[in-house]
Amino acid sequence: HKGSTVFSGIQPTGVAHLGNYLGALRAWGQVSASTPGQFDNAIFSVVDMHALTVPPPPDKLREYKRTAAALIIACGVNPENCIVYVQSEVPGHAELCWILSCFSDFGYLNRMTQWKSKMNLNASSSVTDDAAVQSLRLGLFAYPVLQAADVLLYKATHVPVGEDQVQHLELTRHIGKRFNSAYDTDVFPLPKVLLTPTPRVMSLRDPAKKMSKSDPAEYSRIMINDPPEVVRAKIKRAVTDGDKSVTYDPANRPGVANLIDMVAGLQGRTPEGVEKDVKQLSGHAELKDFVADVISTELRPVREQFEILTTDPEYLESLLRRGAERAADIAQATLKDVKKTVGI
Ligand code: ADP
Ligand code: NA
Repeated sequence: HKGSTVFSGIQPTGVAHLGNYLGALRAWGQVSASTPGQFDNAIFSVVDMHALTVPPPPDKLREYKRTAAALIIACGVNPENCIVYVQSEVPGHAELCWILSCFSDFGYLNRMTQWKSKMNLNASSSVTDDAAVQSLRLGLFAYPVLQAADVLLYKATHVPVGEDQVQHLELTRHIGKRFNSAYDTDVFPLPKVLLTPTPRVMSLRDPAKKMSKSDPAEYSRIMINDPPEVVRAKIKRAVTDGDKSVTYDPANRPGVANLIDMVAGLQGRTPEGVEKDVKQLSGHAELKDFVADVISTELRPVREQFEILTTDPEYLESLLRRGAERAADIAQATLKDVKKTVGI
């Protein structure tokens, strides 16, 4: 892809988990390995300003930021050929967000589902018809505009995301197109989705919910840096069902299917292929031992890299400082174009 720039981000709202790894971070490592080559530039951001939409305690946020950055690098993103940085260190995100908010319709944002799910409202809720939205914060509602600014600030052409983010990338394209046609320019290339082809990893305590950093119960998820004994204990506790056999049946047996999906995702196989291997196991205890072993084995290189990075916080800081400088250079150039275009 000539002239291509990949951009993606992760929120430092907790320690990244197996869902983040299979749905995002592993693919970022693969992008890094083909940059330059398949892609010209790749930029990966720890999006701490997004984390403020549901604000964590400040000390936690500071800690999660460093952890997220270390995990991005541990997952194979090479800070020599990619830019890795923390969003709030580049002021251009907030500046462009304001300008783009002047091109964003309330009606479109009203259709986005994320603010509704974060407020535990159903998908048909609207800012005009539901009393609960009286407490909806502007930042949470406008979050997808900041996301559009993140992507457009670097004139990104490709954005690796999971299924749940496709809606937001559509909005990014909509805003970019709106801006371009308002001024008859092509300042913003319209970014394409690089869909990460992995099934959603579900919560270990409730296979009807996605595995998420924001679940207060830590045993609901496998952290990417969990040591093998912790992985084993969490998987042992995972909710399955009363049928002792081992079959892959996502609709009727979501807990067992989730365990098989994790193995399939980690090993790059089909769930049906994994099912053939695990079918002869005598029950859920044996299945869980097997799954825990696969997780710990597959994540070992990431865990080891992460350990190395966390023993040298100053080195990590220096990588992030350098990343922010490189990001800010690109951001400045885009903002110069944008400001000239709009006349400010
Ligand atoms: P979280 O919901 O855990 O806070 P983020 O919103 O920071 O995660 O998402 C970062 C990336 O990880 C996104 O690209 C998202 O699609 C992916 N992701 C998050 N949770 C999962 C999951 N349970 N399964 C697969 N991918 C996921
Ligand atoms: Na999220």
